[in-house]
Amino acid sequence: MTASEPIRVAIAGFGRLAGDVARGLAARDDIAIVGVARRQAGGATLQLAGHEVATYSTVAGMLAETSPDVLFEATLPEHAMAHALAALEAGVRPVVATSGISDGDLERLAGACTNTQLGAVVAPNLSIGAVVLMHLAAIAGRYFDHAEIIEFHRDRKADAPSGTAVHTARLMQRARLGGFTHAPSRVVTLDGVRGGETGGIGIHSVRLPGLVAHQEVIFGGTGQVLTLRHDATSNDSYVPGAVLAIKHAVATPGLVVGLGTLLGLEA
Ligand SMILES: NC(=O)c1ccc[n+]([C@@H]2O[C@H](COP(=O)([O-])OP(=O)(O)OC[C@H]3O[C@@H](n4cnc5c(N)ncnc54)[C@H](OP(=O)(O)O)[C@@H]3O)[C@@H](O)[C@H]2O)c1
Repeated sequence: MTASEPIRVAIAGFGRLAGDVARGLAARDDIAIVGVARRQAGGATLQLAGHEVATYSTVAGMLAETSPDVLFEATLPEHAMAHALAALEAGVRPVVATSGISDGDLERLAGACTNTQLGAVVAPNLSIGAVVLMHLAAIAGRYFDHAEIIEFHRDRKADAPSGTAVHTARLMQRARLGGFTHAPSRVVTLDGVRGGETGGIGIHSVRLPGLVAHQEVIFGGTGQVLTLRHDATSNDSYVPGAVLAIKHAVATPGLVVGLGTLLGLEA
């Protein structure tokens, strides 16, 4: 690959995330999608932004056939690490968007990057706005004792609260070196109405058709309220973050976890 040639990207998974990201990447001149692997591939070709792309029923088969520069991984947590390690073994840099990668797996991936001298990015949140919101919430949390997070997602999202809400709360606690104060209610007449709570931060999960991915962090202080809010109105919001991660993985050996580092928000 030379600087003027497109980066050749293979896609693992073709669900809600990978499908929309693949379409967004295929529309760019600096990236070429060379293959898509999914369980129900059947060898058919796909049309992505006017390009015909071959499909494969296994990631290993796709890597062997296409020799891409990067594997964009968005399948299921139980398969993501095997795909990422297989990519590095094949000389391909993985960009893992699948969530739920354990600390132990991150260590294994970092070791494999060192051994192969290749780059890799694990990005549990590809939405640049959501990553900036988390950074700002960690700063704001130093100045307020009370905070609540409300996250809003489509009705068919399987888990609650969202990984982003939990991670936001963790970053806020870490930046403050301690917990927040969760004001109790003396009388609660409806179970669960105050939401969940971690480290003194209330977390509320709203699930409705029509929503995509939205999060508010509300800080309360004496005579004032500060609200931070991010709205992803479509999965297109993941494409700029995916491009950033892909370009970084190609240019820089070693493992990076989270887009915050790539955006200069974290050391
Ligand atoms: N980083 C982020 O910003 C972000 C954003 C949204 C979601 N996520 C995470 O990304 C992951 C995928 O989410 P999603 O909503 O796209 O899920 P999804 O719609 O269920 O799609 C999963 C895809 O993985 C494919 N797949 C499963 N096992 C496979 C295997 N062994 N080999 C190849 N393909 C395989 C499935 O193939 P079939 O189509 O053939 O069934 C399907 O296309 C989840 O972990 C989710 O939490 C991350």
